[in-house]
Amino acid sequence: LALTQDELKKMVGYKAVDDYVKSGMVVGLGTGSTAAFAVERVGELLKSGELTDILAVPTSVRTKEQAEELGIPLVTLDTHSELDVAIDGADEVDPNLQLVKGGGGALLREKLVEICAEKFIVIVDESKLCDGLGPGFPLPVEITPFCHEHTIRKVAALPSVAGCKAQLRMGSAATGAAPDGDEIAVTDNGNYIVDLIFEEPIKDPAKAAEELKSLCGVVDHGLFCNMTTAVIIAGSDGISVKTP
Ligand code: A5P
Repeated sequence: LALTQDELKKMVGYKAVDDYVKSGMVVGLGTGSTAAFAVERVGELLKSGELTDILAVPTSVRTKEQAEELGIPLVTLDTHSELDVAIDGADEVDPNLQLVKGGGGALLREKLVEICAEKFIVIVDESKLCDGLGPGFPLPVEITPFCHEHTIRKVAALPSVAGCKAQLRMGSAATGAAPDGDEIAVTDNGNYIVDLIFEEPIKDPAKAAEELKSLCGVVDHGLFCNMTTAVIIAGSDGISVKTP
């Protein structure tokens, strides 16, 4: 019997925690429907006593709330800036294990936390694998509300993302990239998101990351380059692991 996408997400969420989280660690908790299973597993193992002395850093308000409900002790980067491991989902994973993240709008806190982790474990079902980043999922860019229309024009004019369509995210940032609702979506940090929609793969993700980051008005973006320690993938044939 084929597993549902939710069952695949649960498999990798649980496996990442079972394989990489040990008692005494400081752990970064990702955001999204896949990462939620990893958070659930940390809570479960703490409750059963199989894990002890865990401190966790959440990557969004949503994850913070879930962790609080499960009784997972939380800290922030202000007091704990060296994490043993961070576990999170992704929207796209290319053959070099570069990622697009931020479909759920949490990209800034995710990146802040995940670059502080000694190991960054990405958990996905096989639908997230792609040959080139871009066409399969919009690339989110977090921008300041101040003069956002100006910043959106500047973003769209960058050579490394030439040809993309830039679309201000509407509706709830938490519902992903599909724009809905009449209100501009606001991130946990009070910013806006512009989704870059591509027809062709982004030729040089590292260059695009650099250009986007250097633009005034851009806070951060959903390209996570050269950060991945391992990707755990759930597919119809079971679980596989890719490392750079
Ligand atoms: C949140 O902002 C995102 O980066 C998520 O990690 C990503 O969208 C994956 O989410 P799902 O596991 O729900 O697909």
